[in-house]
Amino acid sequence: MRIGNLEIDSPVRLAPMAGVTNASFRLVSKECGSALITSEEIDATGLVRHTDRSEQIATFHPTERPLAMQLLGNDAETLVEAMEVLQERGADIIDINMGCPMPKITRSGKGSALMRDVPATALILRALRRSCQVPLTIKIRGGWDMQHLNAVEVAQMAESEGVDAITVHPRTRSQRFAGRAPWQIIRDVVEAVNIPVTGNGDVTSYSEALQMMAETGCSSVMIGRGALGQPWVFNPDFEGWNVERQREYRERAIARHMELIRTFYPEGRYSLLQVKRHLSYYARGMRSVRECRRTIFAECDTRDEAWTTFRHFWDAA
Ligand SMILES: Cc1cc2nc3c(=O)[nH]c(=O)nc-3n(C[C@H](O)[C@H](O)[C@H](O)COP(=O)(O)O)c2cc1C
Repeated sequence: MRIGNLEIDSPVRLAPMAGVTNASFRLVSKECGSALITSEEIDATGLVRHTDRSEQIATFHPTERPLAMQLLGNDAETLVEAMEVLQERGADIIDINMGCPMPKITRSGKGSALMRDVPATALILRALRRSCQVPLTIKIRGGWDMQHLNAVEVAQMAESEGVDAITVHPRTRSQRFAGRAPWQIIRDVVEAVNIPVTGNGDVTSYSEALQMMAETGCSSVMIGRGALGQPWVFNPDFEGWNVERQREYRERAIARHMELIRTFYPEGRYSLLQVKRHLSYYARGMRSVRECRRTIFAECDTRDEAWTTFRHFWDAA
């Protein structure tokens, strides 16, 4: 797939997830096959004020390229300033979050609230397009609620403002993550615009991603929750391997993920939480999954202890 002047090798890629898709998870996903990776949402105001939190989220490793960096905001001037900061640091794509459903975000007019006022959002995208040197993309939902399903209208507006590609998560803001994602809306957007559309929602395997592409005509697929505890979902060959080969690959990916966490984050609260959280995802499907998770969270005080505990349960599984 091509986004602006950027050729992306593989069509199935990691979706941004706040609190999850930090550099270590992005890199292990990339090494498994996600050719393009996206940062967590970065609050534009926080970034221009250089808050510790925004700086931490905006940090990436040189090997992560190409990297899309996602901004959250609703003020054109602030978004442009934040976009210039990210561009200067090397972002390969600037993505604007127009889908976040969290009330604390939408109350201030950000995230999916941008879909409510199409003319105002057009002005924001116009301002961004004027100074953005790299591809500019947006990530939208089906609409605000079932009475306002305007993904097609927003997509057409974005295309006419010079946006290079669109990701569609077809649930509405009010649906949050409930029910099944209505893939038909992705198809409607694909048919309405001439720029690449990425589909997203409820995909948990590479073959399902191919099915979404076939059913909707989208040119790539983003996987979010389906990648938690299984970054190998991005490997096109994985499903065709026998159980032993899959287990060996999974084991290597998990160990690599833990190594990346150690490399990027010094021992401490954040690092330990990352190890525990992801090992708990990796424990899914084990016979003694509950006992493994309980022991990791209740009894392990260091990353080494958590890893040794996980290995014990993994070897017994
Ligand atoms: C914990 C969590 C955090 C998320 N954070 C973001 C975010 O920062 N930016 C964004 O555009 N979407 C965010 N999303 C939405 C996902 O990118 C994706 O659209 C959604 O999970 C549906 O895809 P899935 O069914 O593959 O998970 C988040 C989702 C989850 C579960």
